[in-house]
Amino acid sequence: MFMDPAKITAENRAIMVDFNGAAIWEKYAFVKSHPVVGLLQTFASAVSGMNIFKSSYIRDARVALEFEAGRLAELRNAGFNAPKVLDHDANWAWMTLSDMGDTVAHIVKKTDMEAEHRQNILVRAAESLAVLHGYGHYHGRPSMRDLTLNKRGIGFIDLEHNPLMVMSLAETQARDAFLFLLDATWAERDNPKLMPLLIAHYAKIAPPDAIEALDRTARALRPILAPLQYLPGGQPRAGVLINALVEGLQDRRPAARGAVHKAGPRV
Ligand SMILES: Nc1ncnc2c1ncn2[C@@H]1O[C@H](COP(=O)(O)OP(=O)(O)OP(=O)(O)O)[C@@H](O)[C@H]1O
Ligand SMILES: [Mg+2]
Repeated sequence: MFMDPAKITAENRAIMVDFNGAAIWEKYAFVKSHPVVGLLQTFASAVSGMNIFKSSYIRDARVALEFEAGRLAELRNAGFNAPKVLDHDANWAWMTLSDMGDTVAHIVKKTDMEAEHRQNILVRAAESLAVLHGYGHYHGRPSMRDLTLNKRGIGFIDLEHNPLMVMSLAETQARDAFLFLLDATWAERDNPKLMPLLIAHYAKIAPPDAIEALDRTARALRPILAPLQYLPGGQPRAGVLINALVEGLQDRRPAARGAVHKAGPRV
């Protein structure tokens, strides 16, 4: 059942095994961090002064697998939808996980899906991420392929990043929101209202510190990315997201909230 460590690659390190119709997943320890990418991230964070660019990979693959198992258990104990760690090797060369169903990426990328149905699933994902953050937790790198959907709702898999070793919880949560939304810009082409909608649903539930860090990050990045809109392909996806964040979060800034407060409650 278990693979020869020499044959493990980034593509086959997580594989589904069918036990008479019941699926489980084997996940193998594998070094994901690339030294050159790590250096670029260090450079970007030094130049920008922003922690969110720092690499959050744990360098030792077995330590990373054990860390991920601990985080999956933590989220499950807190009542969130995450896979159960069924078994693991004594040295964390592998672990087996319960099946979480299909990923959000796989579901929303079905070409025959109606835009509204796709939008509803992405809204649920944005809200679930905000609830996770509201309870003081984080994902680490919530791409659509690391979120799942089953009858318990949105689930969280692939928790091998450890951002808290290089940034605060608020920065970690802001980076979570940014990475999720950036991945979801994929679905924005057919639906220009999607980003404002996802941002509003996230911001309605997420903790103020995370929103503040997200807003601060978007406003710091906007002037850096603005010139890129003149490239032949037009505004890059990150630029679209940053503009939507700066606009969508303006009511959440302390000054804007203070102004509303001073003017008295709106009726
Ligand atoms: N418990 C699970 N339930 C359902 N699908 C799973 C589960 N574990 C892994 N998968 C599937 O396998 C893929 C890879 O698993 P995972 O994301 O944990 O590995 P990874 O190598 O860290 O991936 P990435 O390339 O995103 O860094 C997932 O995107 C998902 O499709
Ligand atoms: Mg993954």
